[in-house]
Amino acid sequence: MKKNKLWSMAIAAILALSLVGCGKEAEPAKEDGILLGVSQIGSESAWRIGNTRDIEEQADRYGINLMMENANQKQENQIAAIRRFIAYKVDVIAFSPIVEEGWDNVLKEAKEAGIPVILVDRELKTSQQGLTTCLIGADFYKEGVMAAEYLIRKADSLGLEHVNIVEITGTQNSTPMVQRQAGFFDTISEDSRMNILESIDGDFLKSRGAECMRYLLDTYGDTIDVVYSHNDEMTLGALPEIEKADFVPGQDIIIISIDGGQEAINVLKEGKINCVVECTPKLGKALMETALKLKAGEAVEPVIHPEEEVFSDEQDTSLIAPRGY
Ligand code: AHR
Repeated sequence: MKKNKLWSMAIAAILALSLVGCGKEAEPAKEDGILLGVSQIGSESAWRIGNTRDIEEQADRYGINLMMENANQKQENQIAAIRRFIAYKVDVIAFSPIVEEGWDNVLKEAKEAGIPVILVDRELKTSQQGLTTCLIGADFYKEGVMAAEYLIRKADSLGLEHVNIVEITGTQNSTPMVQRQAGFFDTISEDSRMNILESIDGDFLKSRGAECMRYLLDTYGDTIDVVYSHNDEMTLGALPEIEKADFVPGQDIIIISIDGGQEAINVLKEGKINCVVECTPKLGKALMETALKLKAGEAVEPVIHPEEEVFSDEQDTSLIAPRGY
């Protein structure tokens, strides 16, 4: 072996060892020739944009060829994208279903074509078993439970005897909407102080969050004690409406949000949001590793839920690290 080749091997080994020593994640082995078709819901929130970016970055890290399509919030666009992936004969399909119903036909087509389907972020309902392989996404029910548990602690600390709540929900019949509501309702139902004034569909959009809040303030005025909003985007839309109506968010009205994007965390630090339950969009790494296993014919975990936490005024919010989305 030539002397300069020996030198470059030695330097590469030292570099690799020093990276391990720095705690930096080792680069995964790059795979050749795997084609992954991903149908993304749209760009409705900072969460979604962060999720898209993470999937693209992780596909690049793993050397996986990505066909990524943005469905612009329409189920029919997702179905058309999946049909294109089947026609292209991709190795694996992944998608985040905008709503839970209406996927049977296209999933049967994927199964007939022998292409495994991974659910990322959201779940769906099918009339037959085995049309999808696994789910990589948050435990939305637990997020609703954590939001309610925070509220119960807050009501205790303020000595509240009666708590009127308005709920701004995500897209009707989407998994995060259904489960965040169920987890929250199940938990507050054990506390007789809690009363839901109204639940209203904000579709996970900032503009709808503002519209819903205007309506709720017009209807219930100063009887509102709590806004429980299913995502940061709607919360950020609702806050200026609360201020315009001369209420101080975070003080006159308790604000509870879900996602934990940087903008909402900044507002939490200002005291205008009381609690943000984390929902991480960083699902790309688990998605790439699962796609590789499926391509290799290996078994995969049926459900992968990332670890998530709660950020709130119960802690020193200045210590919350930058969120990255
Ligand atoms: O499915 C995850 C949800 O979808 C996020 O909470 C929300 O921000 C996004 O639009």
